[in-house]
Amino acid sequence: MSAMLNGHACDFVLFGARGDLAMRKLFPSLYQLHKADLLHADTVLYGVARTECSQDEFIESVHDALKRFVKPREYDEAVWGTFRDRLRYLKVDMSVAEDFAAIAEAVKDSGRTMVNYLATPPAIFGDICKNLYLSGAVQPSTRIILEKPIGHDLESSIEINDTVSQYFTEEQVYRIDHYLGKETVQNLIALRFANNLFGSQWNQNYIDHVQITVAETVGIEGRWGYYDQVGQMRDMVQNHLLQLLCMVAMDPPSQLTADGIRDEKLKVLRALRPITADNVARRAVRGQYTAGAVNGVSCPGYQEEEGSKGHSNTETFVALRASIDNWRWAGVPFYLRTGKRMPTKMSEIVIVYKNQPHYIFDPKQKSVVTNKLIIRLQPDEGIRLQVVTKEQSLDKGMALQSRGLTLNFSEGEEGHRTPDAYERLMLEAMRGNQSLFVRRDEVEASWRWCDALIDAWADIGDEVRPYSAGSWGPIGSIALIERDGKSWHE
Ligand code: BG6
Repeated sequence: MSAMLNGHACDFVLFGARGDLAMRKLFPSLYQLHKADLLHADTVLYGVARTECSQDEFIESVHDALKRFVKPREYDEAVWGTFRDRLRYLKVDMSVAEDFAAIAEAVKDSGRTMVNYLATPPAIFGDICKNLYLSGAVQPSTRIILEKPIGHDLESSIEINDTVSQYFTEEQVYRIDHYLGKETVQNLIALRFANNLFGSQWNQNYIDHVQITVAETVGIEGRWGYYDQVGQMRDMVQNHLLQLLCMVAMDPPSQLTADGIRDEKLKVLRALRPITADNVARRAVRGQYTAGAVNGVSCPGYQEEEGSKGHSNTETFVALRASIDNWRWAGVPFYLRTGKRMPTKMSEIVIVYKNQPHYIFDPKQKSVVTNKLIIRLQPDEGIRLQVVTKEQSLDKGMALQSRGLTLNFSEGEEGHRTPDAYERLMLEAMRGNQSLFVRRDEVEASWRWCDALIDAWADIGDEVRPYSAGSWGPIGSIALIERDGKSWHE
């Protein structure tokens, strides 16, 4: 394996190593990187947590997690045999400075790059950064990866970023938005900037509107206590949906560098028109699921979920109409919607093109002639271009039909698999590539816009609208787009 592929040797230190994210996603992703020979032979993986546990117990818990969360056909006991040799456990109370001496000792003079992954609640980011720094473990090459959420609003995100910045420069900080690690999201860069066909028409002259849908079938999965304080706006829109919007709307960077990309995304966030108390009722809809059925399985309403404290005005669904005030997108609405307990798990971006200026076919067929570019993130990652052709027949004259040109990324050669977003993100952090990570000013610009919207809802005393679990959200979300003479792509 070339040095470029498996990069530099790292001391990869995972804080929160016994938590749900580590077990469900991070260790399985590290295992996959190891299996694909993408980790440097000398890379060591340190699991750090407060729990009293021996090295053997820790290794056994990672083993159990891999058997549970790696697909059986991708799990190989022989690979585990070599992966386990990389694992070390360190018991550390994040608030106790002295405990960090064990970490400093472990990485001292190793000659490897230290990469710290903070898979912990943000409330302890500050303690971890400070204690790492005081322990003497931090070098100019040390990196720190922060899991979301970065704060609850603009003010708290500034506080977290200020604390982190006392110990780490912006070049050392890697803020995760796992949607940026998804294959198709990365592919948007190639699609837009390597194809003149799309690049030349990616603006208000040709595009009528854009739809971004992130639908999940799951509810809040036992996280009521956390989720009820947050809601879908902070949990999904502030980060994942706005990052997708940026990837669609940004101008081409002059160079494919981390800051080249992030500068352009920031301009989009700054150009988002604020939604205010005056127009929020027409521009945004909040919903909350009631009892229903998803894929034939009945599920409780949000307020009856495990851990519920009863009445709640927290949204589990958001639909909104965003406007970007710049030359490229003037007059092009971006419709965003995301919700829990939807009929299917599906994330897609739909670019709806304007129709030709003059229509010459059968008036009854006018609705057929819209071109759409459908970029599917999950499931079945791929791209479909809806084009209009003539129906093949002798007797139907110039009857039109809409056909799809499809690029499917999830199929291909035998054994092909789409890597999980976390695999790519951890690998790129180890390689020192920040372009897949969110810069501080982006996080703050995004909070600024979201805070204004959340405040607008509070100002008008907005109440969530009920929708049945297993439906596409409250009726108001259909009205939101139909008011403009358009409809959601189904
Ligand atoms: C997380 C949210 O960031 O993203 C979860 O906190 C959500 O609530 C998850 O379920 C969705 O991620 P994915 O990759 O399954 O679409």
